[in-house]
Order: sequence, then C-alpha cells, then structure tokens
Amino acid sequence: MEKKKVIIDCDPGIDDSLALLLALKSEELEVIGITIVCGNVPVDLGVENALKALEIADALHVPVYLGENKPLKRELVTAQDTHGEDGVGECFFGKIKDGNVRDGAVDFIVDTLKNNKDISIIALGPLTNIAKAIMTDKEAFNNLSEFVSMGGAFRIHGNCSPVAEFNYWVDPHGADYVFKNLNKKIHMVGLDVTRKIVLTPNIIELIKRFNDNVSKYIVDITRFYVDFHWNQEGIIGCVINDPLAVAYFIDRSICSGFSSYTEIVHDGIAMGQSIVDKEKFYGKEDNSYILTEVDEKKFMLMFLEKLFKDKKNILKAVKEVI
Ligand code: RIB
Ligand code: CA
Repeated sequence: MEKKKVIIDCDPGIDDSLALLLALKSEELEVIGITIVCGNVPVDLGVENALKALEIADALHVPVYLGENKPLKRELVTAQDTHGEDGVGECFFGKIKDGNVRDGAVDFIVDTLKNNKDISIIALGPLTNIAKAIMTDKEAFNNLSEFVSMGGAFRIHGNCSPVAEFNYWVDPHGADYVFKNLNKKIHMVGLDVTRKIVLTPNIIELIKRFNDNVSKYIVDITRFYVDFHWNQEGIIGCVINDPLAVAYFIDRSICSGFSSYTEIVHDGIAMGQSIVDKEKFYGKEDNSYILTEVDEKKFMLMFLEKLFKDKKNILKAVKEVI
C-alpha cells in the first residue's frame, strides 16, 4: 500500500507526543516533517519534546522545524498548567543530542507544498504556522492533498472558556484566517469527539504491563496529565485529543460528521469559538467537515495495536478493558 505523506504541525504537549508516536508507528503514513508551533509550551520546548517522541519511536531522522513563537495578534498563553512546565508531564527528560532540527517551519510547509502534490497536513496545535504559510504563498496550498485540524467545539463546551477550545483560543486570528483562506475542506476534529477518547486507569495499567520503552514513556508523561484531569474536570484518566486526529486521518470510519461553513471568533467573550453554521444561516460555501461521532473502541484498539505491535494477541484478549 502506498504511504500517505504527511506534515504534522504540533505543539508538544503530552497528547501531541502520543499523536506523534501513533503517526510514526503507522505503516500507512510517511511523516516527512514535523513543524512546531507555540501553544501548549513555547516553541523551543516544543522542539525538545518532539525530539523525545522521535527518540522513543526510533525516528530521530525525521526533520523537526522551528515555527512561530507567538500567535498572529494575541500574546502567547501556554497550557503548562495542564502539560507541566516542560510540556511532557514534568518528566524533565533533558536535551536530545541527536535529531534533525532546522529553522523555518513556514518555509518548509510552503516549499514542500509547492514542489509536491501528494502532501497532507495534520495540525495538532494553534494554526499560526499554517496561517503564515498561506500568507506566504496561497497558491502552494492548491497542491495540498488533505487537511485535518484538532481544534474547535461544535455542540460541546470549551476547555478555555464556555465555548472555546485551546488551539483556536490561543490564536483565533490564525485559526480564522486558515478557515477563510485555506480553500480546502478542513476536517475539524473537535472536542465533541476528542473528549470521548480517555486513557483510563485500566488502559494505563495495561500499557504499564507491556513494559517496554514506549509503555514507560506513555505512563511517565501522562501521570501529571491524569492528576490535572481529576483536579480540573473530575475525570479519572486523561483525555488524549491529538491522537484521534491522526487515527481519523488514517481511517475515516473512526469518526463521522457533516459538512458546514465555520468561522472562528476573534475577540470578546466568545474569543476562539468555532461558529459552525450547520443550518446554513449565512448561506456561505462549506469550508469544513465537522466531526461529531466517534467509535472510541475502534480508536483505542488502533492506538494500542500500532504502538504495541508485538502485543496484538494480548490486546485481542483484553478487549473488554478497552
Ligand atoms: O484543546 C486541546 C488541544 O490543545 C490539544 O491539541 C492539546 O495538545 C492542545 O494543543
Ligand atoms: Ca496539541
């Protein structure tokens, strides 16, 4: 089967790191580059955390590009309360000496799209890099194959305000610019579906039993995140948003939804809200596909089977845990 070539734009971040593992261990994908954007953590920390995920996945050859260090107009507000000071659960792993780190995330996106017609982008953070790339060369995006964004919320409450999801709240101007100028359908994997993807204590205990470097890394980086979820939302376990965007890109049957016109609110009490015009009040052309349903079990089995390929028999035997 021909691999799908993807650029992953992200702000690692605990769930971004899990999403990178999933993408790097999926034979359906060829990750041709990872572009880092400010969001969960400042961009330089994001680069460090991406390198750690690449080391765990034995994929340090994949280039990591430094991207925008602040949103288009807002000042950067990070989520280090959620992801830890270091952005990966305060494991403080230390610097990765190897790795293929380069400047120029925006130029990499533009140049890659200009010279290839089979590239997709999976965006797991604020859309600042993507907005800057479109501003740099909108034409190049005519070659873009597909675009999936973890972000937004349709009918479910936000996680940064009653209505706003973090990625679109951090840089609402960037998000809205992308929704208005990408000229490709944005598959919006929002909180409506990602909130249903929970690493429960049972699943974390199962992962711990697999006892390899991937399992240790996952258990270590999610510990802080589990505490945050209990203290903040009274959830036992932790919601892992970003891996669902990768899983959906690989297998569209995992989620379902509808086509719509969507805008992002720039400021005021609803700043960052994704306004999804499902009833077509504005009469504008659909620019997005809004995911509202998800097969959680199908996701979790894919996630675990791809990360622990040699444990497939165990996973089949413990399906009820999942
Ligand atoms: O709102 C959740 C999203 O914001 C996830 O992508 C998380 O990593 C943060 O970037
Ligand atoms: Ca993210």
